[in-house]
Amino acid sequence: MTKKLKILIVAGDGIGPEVTGEAVRVLKSVAEMGGYDFQFREEPIGGVAIKAHGSPLPDGTLRTALDSDAVLLGAVGSNEFNALPPSQRPEAGLLKIRAALGGFANLRPSFAWPGLSGNSPLRAEIVEGADILFVRELLGGLYFGEPRQWDKQANAAWNTMRYTRDEVVRVAKVAFELASKRRKKVTSVDKANVLEVSQLWRATVTDVAQSYPGVALEHQYVDAMAMHIMNQPRSYDVVLTENLFGDILSDEAAVITGSLGMLPSATIGGKVNLYEPVHGSAPDIAGKGIANPLGAILTAAMLLRYSAGLDEEAATVEAAVKRVLDEGYRTPDLARGDQSARVLSTTEVGNKVREFLVGAAASR
Ligand code: NAD
Ligand code: IPM
Ligand code: MN
Repeated sequence: MTKKLKILIVAGDGIGPEVTGEAVRVLKSVAEMGGYDFQFREEPIGGVAIKAHGSPLPDGTLRTALDSDAVLLGAVGSNEFNALPPSQRPEAGLLKIRAALGGFANLRPSFAWPGLSGNSPLRAEIVEGADILFVRELLGGLYFGEPRQWDKQANAAWNTMRYTRDEVVRVAKVAFELASKRRKKVTSVDKANVLEVSQLWRATVTDVAQSYPGVALEHQYVDAMAMHIMNQPRSYDVVLTENLFGDILSDEAAVITGSLGMLPSATIGGKVNLYEPVHGSAPDIAGKGIANPLGAILTAAMLLRYSAGLDEEAATVEAAVKRVLDEGYRTPDLARGDQSARVLSTTEVGNKVREFLVGAAASR
């Protein structure tokens, strides 16, 4: 059976096009080797879309996204729009496409690659074996709650952290399902010692846990959790949390892997799954050809797994990434002055991944 997949590429701003370019080349290699029919389309989003169409999410982009089997996004955001209100910035395009596609469970894995814990600035004995899967609620909380306003007259501004029970139930179920296939532990992160919305979150997650007797549930406050992740990352399996806490903690957890440029994500549960590396447009390194493409490539692997049902191919891509790292090839973010690192450009790292991917297929 020919696997057919319509994939929309929304590369966006800064390093977005640089890293998604490598991810697309990897997907094309997978399609070629397996005889799959992957159709790629490209549309603008973010700052480039504001410039070309006056909107961070043009209608054409949204229409094409809704008509796709999967959407692969690079990054949005550019300093030139910093003075604009949130609703007009490149980031608004990302929030709009997330809402329209409807995925509410953002899966963000972060782990110490076996044998490569030296990538992390943390001591090897702390990170060795760490393997955390964040389940970040993506459509609620402060990002979408109303009212929200900056009242210039009153010199005051406010946002609203709001969740309904149903919103918490559906994302909690995803976390428990995933944990039941992993190490059977969910850590739910909130601020229930201060916030009513977190009290609703905690009570709801506790209720959902009743249906999963084989999965252990623990609760942590977000401030303590920020420390525990650095001190004892091995203690966690699935970490379930609301939108903003998940945004912050998942960037922090990049330290386990060694670089923010390593982290992939997949957003599931809606009409069309959305795949995006965790990092942003990285204006400080954009255009230099040195961005780490592995987060985007691992995001493509998640796409193969969750939208194409190609588990084996996804694992082969991940194995090729591991071999690239095992052999010492790195973009500068991971090399961190290590004299023995074989420092390569974005494209060269992408090429290495494809070389090992094709090599592994040929030797099967
Ligand atoms: P960022 O993630 O872009 O960068 C943070 C740091 O990590 C920078 O030093 C950057 O160079 C480094 N980094 C990130 N990705 C890297 C990679 N692939 N390889 C090597 N180094 C990498 O966060 P920021 O600087 O706070 O934000 C920049 C812009 O990106 C802002 O406009 C922000 O809103 C936007 N942003 C977008 C997304 C997204 O589109 N999903 C995510 C986060 C931030
Ligand atoms: C992320 C980003 C986005 C978020 C921004 C750019 C809207 O930081 O994907 O982590 O906060 O969700
Ligand atoms: Mn973020």
